[in-house]
Amino acid sequence: MDDNNLIAALGHFKSHAPDHIDQLKDLVRIPSISFPGFDAAPVRKSAEAVATILAKSGLKDVRILETGAGHPSVFGQWADDPEKPTILLYAHHDVQPVGREVLWTTPPFEPSERDGRLYGRGVSDDKAGVMMHAAAIMSYLASVGRLPVNVKVLIEGEEEVGSTNLDKLLQGNRELFSANVVLIADSENFDSGVPSLTASLRGIVTVTIEVRSLSSSVHSGTWGGPLPDPVLALAKMLSGLVDDQGNPAIPGISDKVRLLSPAERASINILPFNEVLYRKQSNILTGVQIIGGEGSVYEKMWYRPSIAVNAIEASSRRQAANIINDSAWARVGIRIVPDMDPQETLDLLKNHLIRHAPWGVEVKIEQESPSRWWRTDTNGPIFEAARIALEKGYGKKPAVVGAGGSIPFVQTITEALGGIPALLFGVGDPYTAAHSENESLLISDWESACRSLIHLFAVLPDLKN
Ligand code: BES
Ligand code: MN
Repeated sequence: MDDNNLIAALGHFKSHAPDHIDQLKDLVRIPSISFPGFDAAPVRKSAEAVATILAKSGLKDVRILETGAGHPSVFGQWADDPEKPTILLYAHHDVQPVGREVLWTTPPFEPSERDGRLYGRGVSDDKAGVMMHAAAIMSYLASVGRLPVNVKVLIEGEEEVGSTNLDKLLQGNRELFSANVVLIADSENFDSGVPSLTASLRGIVTVTIEVRSLSSSVHSGTWGGPLPDPVLALAKMLSGLVDDQGNPAIPGISDKVRLLSPAERASINILPFNEVLYRKQSNILTGVQIIGGEGSVYEKMWYRPSIAVNAIEASSRRQAANIINDSAWARVGIRIVPDMDPQETLDLLKNHLIRHAPWGVEVKIEQESPSRWWRTDTNGPIFEAARIALEKGYGKKPAVVGAGGSIPFVQTITEALGGIPALLFGVGDPYTAAHSENESLLISDWESACRSLIHLFAVLPDLKN
């Protein structure tokens, strides 16, 4: 390790952090929502803006990677020494829709700072990840003129819609992405100021359901009685998905859930739990129960399946007239854990819904592309290096945690590259509100994460196997 170079890079970061925050704000101003039905042009604009930032940070070979019908990703690299190990850095530049616009204190695409936090859609998930990579790279290249390791960067454009075209992208560019270790900056810290290494992710399977009983809505007084209400039919179908404790009740769904190893159980038992704090961070209302039966909330969030109904549609508050609706629609997701099989879970879910459809109503179910679960062993020199880097960057020892969320890239890339280790450390915290209104980033934690990555670059060359 070259201490002078490390000191120079850290010094450069210190004096330029506000400039990087300005670049982050510029990215957040671009509404790069990747969902179907939203304008695709801003996602492309966002890819171009990311490419400009990566090029400014000093990376070579910066290019936009097209994914056929999908949204563009961005690649760049600094790989000048075949003797040194290569780290592949990942983040995504697409974002979720904004939710209920009136609930935002300041507009989602006009980044604004309050009390040390930066607010805006995608500011944390995951444009902070993009800027963490760019800032750490620039800190070296602008001060020292080179990086201590070979670095490749992939910034994806459709993570929030399940990374549908990622497999094809990796297969078509295998050599381009080859690396000894991958770092994914798209996860959250256990608490504000607490650096965290994520050792597991849940997967997810999602379906949309349309229930139809009439060819057109009718007056509920004139016709009500003999006609099946599709909203009630859908409600019956959905209510059977969980038991009285709120646990998944689809027969067979939990048969393959792997028991926690003693080491995994120990890793959650050493984490502090404070119910008052948990209730505050999770936004649960006073008097509302924590469900799921016995067991720690960490086990329920990270190591067990869970079901959520993301949206239901049948008429609307504004149009709520005395009618029997012709149809009802819902989107349902199941978070999956080892050793649940995505397609098997989807089939169990679909069959369960169809079996519970009453009165001969028409049911149409469509599945989205699933994301697999992921779990890693956190022993070994790479994880040790990450622990040291995080401790140096934050001034505090890192926690090893699981995550309830999903990132399709992790399983896909580690498999494609023959089981290389994956490091997950991101910049969200329990107050980030990712996917919700008023998403925010704790700027001081983002700076700590950047310093950690600068330290990680410095220690990696000593780890060449
Ligand atoms: N950053 C999240 C995933 C995440 C959240 C990881 C918290 C670790 C901790 C990511 O952008 C995300 O939301 N992914 C989707 C994936 C899906 C579309 C396949 C998710 O989890 O819903
Ligand atoms: Mn994300």
